[in-house]
Amino acid sequence: MKTKTTVVEYELEAGAFDWPIAPHKTVRAWGFNQQLPGPVLKAKRGDTLVIKFRNELPEPTLIHWHGIRLAAPMDGTGEVQQPVGPGEEFEYRFVVPDAGTFWYHSHANETVQMERGMYGALIVEDEADPVTDADRVMLIDDMKLTADQQFSEPGWFLPRIIERHDGREGDTLLINGKEQPTIEIHAGQVERWRFINASSARYVVLYLGGKEFRIIGTDGGLLEQPRTVTEVLITPGERLDILAGPFQKGETFAIESLPYDRTTFLKAKRRTLATVQVREPKPSVAFIPDSLRTIVPLAPPDAAVTRKIKFAVGPSWKNGMDFLVNEGTHTQDEPVRVGQLQVWEVSNASLMDHPFHLHGFFFQVLEENGQAPAYRAWKDTYNLKPRTTVKIAWMPDNRPGKWMYHCHILEHHAAGMMAHFEVV
Ligand code: C2O
Ligand code: CU
Repeated sequence: MKTKTTVVEYELEAGAFDWPIAPHKTVRAWGFNQQLPGPVLKAKRGDTLVIKFRNELPEPTLIHWHGIRLAAPMDGTGEVQQPVGPGEEFEYRFVVPDAGTFWYHSHANETVQMERGMYGALIVEDEADPVTDADRVMLIDDMKLTADQQFSEPGWFLPRIIERHDGREGDTLLINGKEQPTIEIHAGQVERWRFINASSARYVVLYLGGKEFRIIGTDGGLLEQPRTVTEVLITPGERLDILAGPFQKGETFAIESLPYDRTTFLKAKRRTLATVQVREPKPSVAFIPDSLRTIVPLAPPDAAVTRKIKFAVGPSWKNGMDFLVNEGTHTQDEPVRVGQLQVWEVSNASLMDHPFHLHGFFFQVLEENGQAPAYRAWKDTYNLKPRTTVKIAWMPDNRPGKWMYHCHILEHHAAGMMAHFEVV
């Protein structure tokens, strides 16, 4: 328990700048503080973050603090605040109640602003965190660039319809703003790697050359126990914290994304994100308990459903396809009452995947197609597979105001695959 709150202050300025993604390869990025990604914002659980924001972009913007359980007026959506115009300022101020890996990104004209680099990591630390030899953010993005490093426009008719349908996947893959970086780790050491998928639409199936790694956290912080795997899906918007290592001296391997077929026109491909080189050994201070924390279940798997939500894709005269929530685009749901447990049945009637993102609250997955999940976790973004129904539970605590949920494939979100609701 903390006795006094600490205020952590940052200044963020959105603007355009030249950013080298590789030697002799520079893009005209849009981002925060002339760097891509924006600075890593850090705080301790319970701190108050104050972000003095200034917009020097040629168009209005907003900042959304993805995953932070903050007060509604600070959520950075067009529902709760006026967009910050060119030359204007806004002060965001909120408490960070949970430890974990979060991120901030533009919530205006996202298919343009986020593609150009309007994002960064927000890390909230806690005394109860496992001890590792290093802690790194691994922010994944892909850019769709022309041969001369310009951001490519979707073009006319068919390419545009296809991009709207599939979401934009680019061939230039970045980790922390760099193409194909080399990451060095000392033999014998164990590091915490915090992956954030900031890409518009790319599904990343994280793979470390077949080596086992341990998942320790996701959107809403630590899991109950580390889980050893060799691959794991990270959809746009999701975070995943892993333990990497210990490795042996001289080893070299790639951080890759295995193909994921999300049923689009795009061909699923295996892609390399970075190379890892294992350097000379160093002693390790890492201490990873078997039990990381307890996650108390919010509701039993058979809890009565309080609301049904449907994601679908339907034909449209105007756009070829409409991306729908509850039969419409930008729909308004019934209000949700503070303190009343929400059990939502979220179904995906379409034949493609959609990462469902709920603003401002964490949920637990109770069932997926009638099956209990393999482990408990706090989530704010969860992949809806084609023709799948997911039952989630979440508790509206006392933070009344306007909230939303949407597909985190940015082109689907832009097409209206979102809904608004009020907590009252
Ligand atoms: Cu990370 Cu409304 O989004
Ligand atoms: Cu979608």
